[in-house]
Amino acid sequence: MIAIEKVNLSYTAGDTLVPVLNDASMNVDAGQSVAIVGPSGSGKTSLLLVLTGLETPDSGTVVFDGSSLHELSNDQRADIRRDSIGIVFQGFHLIPSLTARENVALPLDIAGVTGARNRAAELLDRVGLGHRLDHYPNAMSGGERQRVAIARALIHQPALIVADEPTGNLDNQTGDAVADLLFELNNENNATLLLVTHDSALASRCQRQVRLQEGTLQAVTH
Ligand SMILES: Nc1ncnc2c1ncn2[C@@H]1O[C@H](COP(=O)(O)OP(=O)(O)OP(=O)(O)O)[C@@H](O)[C@H]1O
Ligand SMILES: [Mg+2]
Repeated sequence: MIAIEKVNLSYTAGDTLVPVLNDASMNVDAGQSVAIVGPSGSGKTSLLLVLTGLETPDSGTVVFDGSSLHELSNDQRADIRRDSIGIVFQGFHLIPSLTARENVALPLDIAGVTGARNRAAELLDRVGLGHRLDHYPNAMSGGERQRVAIARALIHQPALIVADEPTGNLDNQTGDAVADLLFELNNENNATLLLVTHDSALASRCQRQVRLQEGTLQAVTH
């Protein structure tokens, strides 16, 4: 489903070049669950940005479902994200003027799908927020906002779920419930699951673990 081949990425900060990805390569099959691990600053978020087409690599290719992402137009990449990818970022990017339920329903509302409000309520219930449907983001805790962002990323039943530290700000019980939901969708819908995590217990629930080390991806062997 995803083929990342020899991706190089560096950022420029002032006069210095910050190399981040160095010939990073990886293939992911449809329906697989993969944990991406590595220390802070090793490039995990950058890798997610490249493989969802939000960042353009200096060289190398990312093929998603047969399309070479960086040869497409911005609009075509945005279409792929809208239709097929659910992204949970480290920052939550909720819309402050919308309630939890409205934030979650938004992707379906934009797509003109009916029943968005009910489906949003159902997903919020599954992440333990059935009692917070009408709360605005600034009236919710950090972990609650994170769960709203997760529900929003999942509402259109994406073929690929990409999550950056999805349980990072959550207590163990809530984190487990969120992880359970991700793995349920992985199983029920055969959704491919790519997650970045510092939590070794969560990483070991995935079928594969890969480590980012000096910009390259290496399989973690036990
Ligand atoms: N826009 C940018 N400009 C310059 N440097 C950047 C930029 N974004 C990230 N970096 C640098 O690139 C490196 C990789 O960042 P990235 O966010 O991918 O790391 P990460 O593995 O996700 O870390 P964490 O576990 O802390 O989230 C870091 O050293 C960071 O400082
Ligand atoms: Mg990161």
